[in-house]
This record gives sequence, structure tokens and C-alpha cells, in this order.
Amino acid sequence: MKKRILSGIQPSGRLHVGNWFGAIRQHVRLQEEGHDCFYFVANYHALTSTQDRERLTDSTRHIVMGYLALGIDPARSTLFLQSDVPQVVELAWFLNCVCPMGLLERATSYKDKVARGMMANVGLFAYPVLQAADITAYDANLVPVGADQKQHLEITRDLVGKLNQAYGAALLVEPEPFIVDAVAVVPGLDGQKMSKTYDNTIEVFVAPKATSKRVMQIVTDSTPLESPKDPATCNVYALLKLFATPEESAEIGDAYRRGGYGYGHAKKRLAELINEAFGPARERYTDLEAHPDHVDDVMREGGKKARAVAEATLARVREAAGILTHR
Ligand code: ADP
Ligand code: TRP
Repeated sequence: MKKRILSGIQPSGRLHVGNWFGAIRQHVRLQEEGHDCFYFVANYHALTSTQDRERLTDSTRHIVMGYLALGIDPARSTLFLQSDVPQVVELAWFLNCVCPMGLLERATSYKDKVARGMMANVGLFAYPVLQAADITAYDANLVPVGADQKQHLEITRDLVGKLNQAYGAALLVEPEPFIVDAVAVVPGLDGQKMSKTYDNTIEVFVAPKATSKRVMQIVTDSTPLESPKDPATCNVYALLKLFATPEESAEIGDAYRRGGYGYGHAKKRLAELINEAFGPARERYTDLEAHPDHVDDVMREGGKKARAVAEATLARVREAAGILTHR
């Protein structure tokens, strides 16, 4: 059955291999399956953690171009910026007013971020409420997200129940999470989760040479070239498995165990595979960079479609709550 899919990504840096396997690949797949997909850049969410104007603007455009280059088709999916739908911020206020403090106090991502040194501002605290507004403004049925977002989806479902109960009507649709755990966690150069936060990423949209250089930095142990190696504990192999065919992965695994196959060989092959995999997307990205007006048109059209849907939701909610508007 055709579903309304919605997902968002924060513009906090450059897209990397973890974002592709953990999120964007599924977003493209859901579009290909014929669902009604809404994908947006969560730039208001990014304000909870940055005041760097230049970086925010660059990264917002980068994500839009990246989604287009990686296969999101604006003729079939609605691709837009959160900031082009101010109704979402308005809906967040309605949700704030039915949201018990305790619900947010229990949110682990807020606690984690503060523990990592981020400023404990009200926006960061209320982050899950804005996310609930993102989801419910568009009557989303299914929200593809990584496992780390599970709690935010639970909070969303809670808030839907509270708002509907407060006004005695089915104003908002309760979304189902669609937890993407197909590849679990993509490791970064140091073996930790690949993340901008750890500066251990392999970016998608860079020149082939830059990819090779990055791949050469993947941390390995110091087993000599001749000796047998264990593919199961090797970061290079973990990444290779994502890009190589099952046959090639098996062959390389055998070569590791046999010995005489060095980490340098594996890295060289990995860089080739990454460059092949993203080659066409990189070309499209370069083309989009040369046509900024086209990218603006996509955002304008996407924003327009998204706004119309969100406005219908807000009209329902304002009316039910007795909020008068004259516009
Ligand atoms: P980062 O950790 O680099 O800041 P984000 O939190 O912005 O990345 O992630 C955006 C999306 O990409 C999320 O859906 C997240 O689950 C997914 N993602 C990010 N890093 C990885 C990874 N290393 N493995 C799998 N998925 C990832
Ligand atoms: N919190 C999500 C993340 O960090 C991004 C996000 C914001 C989102 N609003 C959303 C994801 C709505 C799905 C639906 O990855």
C-alpha cells in the first residue's frame, strides 16, 4: 500500500558513507517502491547546535544537492527545507502546550548532547517536539530513521495522543517508525561509528584522489603483509563488504586469512569501489553546482507542496483549539 513517508536530515556538515548506507539509500529505495515521500533538510533543528551562518547555509544546499545527485527525484518525491514551512514551528507550539516536561526530561539524546558539552538551551530541550511537528504536519505514516531516533518517534506518538485527546478529535496521524538497521553502524576511519562529530568520515562528494587519501588513513593493526589476517576485526574489510559484491567480499576474506595480502591492497581496492559507486552521483553533483537556479527551483517547488499539506493540518488544529487567525 502506498504510504506517506517522511524523513529529515540535519545540515550539520558534508554527507558521508554512513549517511548513505544508514539513511539516504533507504530514502531512495522507498521512492523507487512508489511511496509518497517527503524529505527535508532540518535547518531549524541545526540551530539547536550551531550559530555558524556560513556553515549552515552551505551545508543546507549541500544536502539538497546530495539528495538530488544520489537519486531523489523531485518529480516523484517532495524535497524541501524545514524553513520553507513555518507552519511546522507553529505546530510545535501547539505540541509544546500539551507536552509534559517529564517526557522531554527523559529524552536521552538531550542528555547525551549536554554531556558532550553542548549548550543546554531550550531549543535543544524541545528538539523532539519540533521533530514531532515535522512528522505530523504532513500526516506521515512511516518515518525511516536510524535506531538512535527511536525515542524521538515514541515521543511523537505520545504527543499525537495528547493533542488528539486534548481536543477530542483525530487531528494528527500517529506515525510508525521504520527503523533502518540493515547495515547497523558503518565504522569510520578509527573503527568508531562514522560521524561528523568524530571527524572520521569518508565523504561522498569529493574527488577520487581525496577518497583514496582518506581510505589510506583507515586504522589497521600492524600484522605484516605475509601473515594471515582476520577480516572480522578489520575496519577496511568492514567497509569493503558494503561496497563489494558478496563474491568479491568472500574472495578478499580468503586472501586475508591466507596471508600475503596486505592492508594496503585492501585499501586500494576499497578506494576504487567507493569511487566507482559514487562516480555517477558525483557527476550529477558537479552539474547541480553549476546550476544553482535549478536547485533553488527544486527547493521552491518542494516548499510550496509541503506548505500546502502543512497548512491544511494547521487549519484543523487552530480551529479545534479555538485559535483565531485573520490572514
Ligand atoms: P553524524 O553522526 O555524522 O552527525 P547524522 O546524525 O546527521 O550523522 O545522521 C544522519 C542520518 O545518517 C541518520 O539517519 C543516521 O542514522 C545515519 N547515519 C549517520 N552515521 C551513520 C553510520 N555511521 N552508520 C549508519 N547510519 C548512519
Ligand atoms: N533528529 C533527526 C536526526 O538527527 C533529524 C530529524 C529532524 C528528523 N526532524 C525529523 C528525522 C523528522 C525524521 C523525521 O537524524
